[in-house]
Amino acid sequence: MHWPHAFERGDNLFPKNPDGTMRYDYIDYKETWKAMEKLISKGLVRAIGLSNFNSCQIDDILSVASVKPAVLQVECHPYLAQNELIAHCHQRGLVVTAYSPLGSPDRMWKHPDEPVLLEEPGIKKLAEKYSKSPAQILLRWQVQRKVIVIPKSVTPARILQNLQVFDFKLTAEEMSYIGSLNKNWRYIVPMVTVDGKLVARDAGHPLYPFNEPY
Ligand code: A2P
Repeated sequence: MHWPHAFERGDNLFPKNPDGTMRYDYIDYKETWKAMEKLISKGLVRAIGLSNFNSCQIDDILSVASVKPAVLQVECHPYLAQNELIAHCHQRGLVVTAYSPLGSPDRMWKHPDEPVLLEEPGIKKLAEKYSKSPAQILLRWQVQRKVIVIPKSVTPARILQNLQVFDFKLTAEEMSYIGSLNKNWRYIVPMVTVDGKLVARDAGHPLYPFNEPY
């Protein structure tokens, strides 16, 4: 389940009102989860999981689930370290996948003042120390703290490089230093312009996940 909040049912995947706002559905995600479980019992899918759910919503799902979510996928990198959410999931035996682990530098809708993760001086310094790239330091940090990581690249040399993170180890101090770069910065929030200002498109939906601390 990509998000806890839903769009209106139909063939149009991004249904909009004439004024450009989204047309939502208000179905309880627990109901959707029960429907997903049926797909498993029918043999139509092998595994089901969650994405972009917050800690309360995860517990809500666990309270009704007869199939445990295979994974929680969330945006995660040193600027959005997700320490509490990861601990919450690991305590409940859920694995976490970090998406946009490099800060998704290829996004079209970049915020003009956004920090550039791959340019972070402390990360560059560690890259020099280990003769690795900044991307490899970011990936190693996740792997070492038992977070699955899915960097995206269309460049063969980078795809290969992104796999080469198992031949070095960050020290405990370096691990916590990288964690301390956290600034709860989300790169991936669907935004819209209202009265000339960029605002989170779905923040008014009652099931929007990012209104909670984690
Ligand atoms: P490209 O696809 O041109 O190789 P994320 O996984 O955080 O969404 O980031 C994806 C972006 O990061 C893509 O623009 C990709 O570029 C770039 N990227 C992927 N791997 C590396 C790497 N090892 N070094 C630098 N940039 C990378």
